[in-house]
Amino acid sequence: MKIIDHITNIFQEKFGSAPVHVARAPGRVNLLGEHVDYNDGFVLPAAIDRATYVAFSPTDSDQTQLVAADFDQAAVFSPRTIPLKTQTDGSPLPEWALYPAGVMWALNEDHLQARGMNAVYASDVPRGSGLSSSASVELAFITAWWTLGGWTLPSMQSALLGQKAENQYVGVNCGIMDQFASACGVENRLLLLDCRSLEWKTIPLPENISIVIADTKVRRKLTSGEYNKRRAACEEAVHLLKQDLPDITALRDVSVEEFNRLAGKLPAEVSKRARHVVEEIERSKQAEALLEAGNILRFGELMNECHVSLRDLYEVSCPELNVMARIAQSLEGCYGARLTGAGFGGCTANLVACEQAEEFSQSLAKGYQVEIGVQPEIYITRASNGAELLK
Ligand code: GLA
Repeated sequence: MKIIDHITNIFQEKFGSAPVHVARAPGRVNLLGEHVDYNDGFVLPAAIDRATYVAFSPTDSDQTQLVAADFDQAAVFSPRTIPLKTQTDGSPLPEWALYPAGVMWALNEDHLQARGMNAVYASDVPRGSGLSSSASVELAFITAWWTLGGWTLPSMQSALLGQKAENQYVGVNCGIMDQFASACGVENRLLLLDCRSLEWKTIPLPENISIVIADTKVRRKLTSGEYNKRRAACEEAVHLLKQDLPDITALRDVSVEEFNRLAGKLPAEVSKRARHVVEEIERSKQAEALLEAGNILRFGELMNECHVSLRDLYEVSCPELNVMARIAQSLEGCYGARLTGAGFGGCTANLVACEQAEEFSQSLAKGYQVEIGVQPEIYITRASNGAELLK
């Protein structure tokens, strides 16, 4: 595999020997349940066949020397410097290094040893594309550190550690979905997670169906604040709805009927945001039965409804994502198309009949290019395993 050779060569050049280990952790695509993980809802992601790879060897010092091959940059940090977000020479950590350093910080907080290592990493999950490149970096490094530390963690615990790093160190208030999918992915399976109980199961990918990812090439930054604003609106909705529904702790606890009755009491914007969440949780509750019954037609319709809701109620879409979803939905063989991940740019997820997936991809690329003037990247993905040690 090219990316592993690439980081192995850089490792050899920089550190003068071959890396002892290589770990990988995938990105994810989400099919249903968007912006509901932090509302205790249900999500239906799959780990994809694009991942972050880290080549690493233990050292005797407590310093970690890290090369980010994709940025052609290096950073050196240790357990003493990470609380300050600095390198060992006192300079600030570059932004990309916050993810691995955040993992070291989270491990130390939980009294798990993150010993010093030399490491080179690279990723083919496009950054800022809604495919969870940051979670894949976090899980790749958790895997590296458990390998060197001689301790292990259940995969859900690894996911929670990755989320802690992102919430408390990087400063993005994300839910558990991305780290969960990157940690717990299973080949050829969709993952159904209850974000309240953290119970999860796998569901087979419907036969003869391909997941096609369509990258608009619009890039966003999750830290830009819009994401955190959406979370705050959901919290405000819960706070206000508690006056009539004192037992609720999250929007998960509000039925569509209750919401319809009480929505008028909420400020207009808060009401739109909360309606998306309440209705999206309702949609995602139907996913398992529909997939089991092989009702891909209805499942695809729910995906399309989800896109409309993210566009009009949650307002996290953008013109390019809307064009990509609209063209896809008009093409032969497409059951459903919608933006995936946080939004504000990035990718759509498309469910397409296998035998039409190639032609679908070509027509979608052409149509998008004509309307937007940008060449998108469109590929058929495979549901893959979660974080793992390769060597
Ligand atoms: C980002 C976050 C996830 C989730 C999605 C939206 O990917 O990291 O926790 O909230 O957005 O569903």
